Amino acid sequence: MPTQELIPIRFALNGRTVEARVPPGMTLLELVRREFRLTAAKEGCGKGECGACTVLLNDQPINSCLKLAASLRPTDRVVTLEGLADDPLMVTIQKAYVAEGAVQCGFCIPGMVMSSYHLLRTHPQPSAAQIKEFHSGNLCRCTGYAKIEKAVAKAAAAAATSGQPAGGPAPEPRKETR
Ligand code: FES
Ligand code: FES
Repeated sequence: MPTQELIPIRFALNGRTVEARVPPGMTLLELVRREFRLTAAKEGCGKGECGACTVLLNDQPINSCLKLAASLRPTDRVVTLEGLADDPLMVTIQKAYVAEGAVQCGFCIPGMVMSSYHLLRTHPQPSAAQIKEFHSGNLCRCTGYAKIEKAVAKAAAAAATSGQPAGGPAPEPRKETR
């Protein structure tokens, strides 16, 4: 049986340059989970509909189940939830989710908080409509949207009072709808 061709790639993962050799069909989600043992991003639908696999690529949230690992370039910067573990804004967001009881089974939460992070980096004082819009690509099968949206508003208020830095790249929400 012929061996599968492996493609060499190099990119920045959570602030560190990494290299790998990947099969042509491997997704970024598979790469971070299997090769780098970063398991916060989850595989829900595997086809770009649920947002459980959300990571940041060059500061923009993407569904990592749709991104081919082989397409990563040396200038690409991928950040998973693990890479934001000590980020003050992410810590504030996670505390707000807990305080509001927004976590039920928890499966959607890693992807959800990545979208919350992107929102609050780009819109430090989001409207209720912006909170909904920026999380529209994240599905919660436990249907905890109201508490999640309340948690994001709480995190925004907490971040503002603690003077956490804001202002990130391109404030475009994803186009998926739920
Ligand atoms: S697993 Fe990627 S969008 Fe559902
Ligand atoms: S908390 Fe269960 S899927 Fe969202």
